Amino acid sequence: MLIRIPRGWELPESAVTPEAAVMGRRKGLGLIAGAAALGAFAGRAQAQGAPGAMAAPRNARFEPGRDITPERDATTYNNFYEFGGSKSIYPTAQKMPVRPWKVTFGGMVDNPATLDIEDILKRVTLEERVLRHRCVEAWAMTVPWTGFPLSELVKIAGPKPEAKYVVFETATLPAVMPGLRQSWYPWPYIEGCTVEEAANELAFVAVGMYGKPLPQQNGAPLRVLFPWKYGFKAGKSIVKVTLTDKRPSTFWEGLQASEYGFWANVNPEVPHPRWSQAHERLLGSGDRVPTKIFNGYGEFVASLYTNLQNERLWA
Ligand code: MTE
Repeated sequence: MLIRIPRGWELPESAVTPEAAVMGRRKGLGLIAGAAALGAFAGRAQAQGAPGAMAAPRNARFEPGRDITPERDATTYNNFYEFGGSKSIYPTAQKMPVRPWKVTFGGMVDNPATLDIEDILKRVTLEERVLRHRCVEAWAMTVPWTGFPLSELVKIAGPKPEAKYVVFETATLPAVMPGLRQSWYPWPYIEGCTVEEAANELAFVAVGMYGKPLPQQNGAPLRVLFPWKYGFKAGKSIVKVTLTDKRPSTFWEGLQASEYGFWANVNPEVPHPRWSQAHERLLGSGDRVPTKIFNGYGEFVASLYTNLQNERLWA
C-alpha cells in the first residue's frame, strides 16, 4: 500500500504564480545561424556558466502557435526533485558541475560505451525547435530549445533488434543534490519510452534553451523532451541510456502508478485523479487556455498508439 506523499506540484495556485513575467522576453528568438553552433557550444563548455550564444538553425516544422515564455519564467520555475520539492530550486542547482559529463550507453546495444558529452555533440547536428511543454500539474510553457532528435542519440548506442524500450537515468550527485536525502523517493529518476517513440521525429534531446547552454535547473547538460507527453517524462541531466526488452518502472509511476503512468500522453478529457486536465496555465502571462490532445502534436504522434488501445495511454 503506497503512502501518498504530497509533491511540490500540489502547491496551491497562489503559491506558484511566476514572479518575473516581464524579464528576458523573447531572448534568443532571432538566433538563427549556421553550422558555427557546435564550435560555439564546445568553447563555452569549458567556461561553464559564462554568458554566450548557442545558435542553431530554427526547424520551422514545429512552430508552436503561441508566444514564447519569458526566459526568466522558464528558468526560475522548475521541477527538479533532486534539488528539492519547491519550484525555486534554481539557486541550489547552480552547484551541479556539468563538465566533464559522461553518458553510459548499455543494455541491448551494439555499441556499449561511456562517452563524454563533447564526443556525443560531435556526432549530432544541432537545431532549434520552439516546443510547447505541458506539466501534469496543468502549467505550460513554450521554449526555444537547442538540441537534436532523440533518434540520433539512440543511433549512437545501436539498438539490437530485440530492444523494445529506451530507459533514461538522471545523475545522482548527493554532494550537490539535497533532494536525494528524501529517501522515500525511488531514486534515481528513471524515465523511458518505446523504441518507436524514441524514433519519432518529435522526440528531442535538449542541450540549450533561449540560444544558450541549458542551465542546470532545466536539466544541463542534456535532457530528453517528449512534447506530446506530460512533462515528468522529460528526464533531466541524463547519465545513462539503456536499451531493454522490459518496460522500465519509472520514477513517478513507482511512487503512484494510478496518477503517473508509463505512457502519460496529454489528454484534456482524461482528468488526473485529483484535478482536471482540460485547461493549462501559461507561465509568464498566467493565461488559462484549453489543453489539446497530445498537447497539439497529434499529427506527428497519434499513429504510434493505434495498436495500443488496451494500454492506459493518457495518465
Ligand atoms: N527530471 C529529473 N531528473 N527530476 C525531476 O524532478 N521533473 C520533471 C521533468 N524532469 C524532473 C525531471 C517534471 S515533473 C517536469 S514538469 C519537467 O522536468 C520540468 O522541466 P523544467 O523545469 O525545465 O520546466
